[in-house]
Amino acid sequence: DKGTYPYYMLKEIDEQPNVMRKLSSEYLNEDGTPVVQDELLDAMKQSDRLYIIAAGTSYHAGLVGKELFEKLSEVPTEVHVSSEFAYNMPLLSKNPFFIFLSQSGETADSREVLVNLNRLNYKSLTITNVANSTLSRESNYTLLLHAGPEISVASTKAYTAQITVEAILAKALGESEGIAKAKDFNLKQQLGFVATGMQSIVDEKETINEISKKYFADANRAFYIGRGIDYFVSLESSLKLKEISYILAEGFASGELKHGTIALIEEDTPVVGIITQSNTAGLTRSNLEETMARGAKAITIATESLSKENDDIVVPDVDELLTPLLSVIPAQLLAYYTSLNKGLDVDHPRNLAKSVTVQ
Ligand code: M6R
Repeated sequence: DKGTYPYYMLKEIDEQPNVMRKLSSEYLNEDGTPVVQDELLDAMKQSDRLYIIAAGTSYHAGLVGKELFEKLSEVPTEVHVSSEFAYNMPLLSKNPFFIFLSQSGETADSREVLVNLNRLNYKSLTITNVANSTLSRESNYTLLLHAGPEISVASTKAYTAQITVEAILAKALGESEGIAKAKDFNLKQQLGFVATGMQSIVDEKETINEISKKYFADANRAFYIGRGIDYFVSLESSLKLKEISYILAEGFASGELKHGTIALIEEDTPVVGIITQSNTAGLTRSNLEETMARGAKAITIATESLSKENDDIVVPDVDELLTPLLSVIPAQLLAYYTSLNKGLDVDHPRNLAKSVTVQ
């Protein structure tokens, strides 16, 4: 039931602070130690490479997961789109371990990969929002997202829950391998900061509605740019906008624009810059300036410590590995309001189904 909300999507965006708290209490002890079954960690410890398999928004959460597993557990990690992996399997490492990310646990493209891998006797984990879903039943291990039912076709709280479960698992694996960075990573405290930060963004949602009205009402195309983790959030942000507002939107690694795409910038094209990483903030800002010199309307989403006076949206600081949990919220709201203001059916975009059960 969506209660007083006009659409499930807005309700689900607003639920994210609580999902963070729920995951913290489900998967972290009072003292912050991760609670993950030993058998799963042992299987992962035997592996020399993790392969994350997913589609759509879950794929974008997987890209952030690669950062988490490589930084906190020091295991090389690859991320693959399931519909590609199923028919063009890359050369695998000696001891691969597979992680399926799927809100529904029913995505046919991902299931096709799992069926193939099971035939080859490989071990896998499914991270899903739906207990007893097909992917969960057919893989060796399951971790639940505990996000509550996600009804809107556009995925929001499942994305942030997936990143959080990946962070918990990466910390658990890193700690069990004795990696100092994993031990020192105070995830319990950080998730508290994330929940409070998310709340402050959703409380200020009207600001984002104003930005949507000003820059997106008449736009026929839009770009999101960033580097590293911010690039991954750019991909997710653009998918959100295009699927519910039908504006042609693309996410780019900000350094790539000048290699071709900048030709598409016209007078007033909105370009959203995501700036949460200290080692690349300056570079992304100068890439934004290059677009402004060609007529673009730049809109910035920056973390507080990296913010400048004229930034449009400033989100609170958290550990740089977890900034997607905050920087994605304004992008979700931007997509929501743009769709709403166009009078579209936000929860049921054309041509799309909530769970994609065909290949
Ligand atoms: O249920 P899944 O996470 O496996 O679904 C994958 C995609 O179909 C899904 O994320 C899709 O991209 C959403 N409509 C994005 O908002």
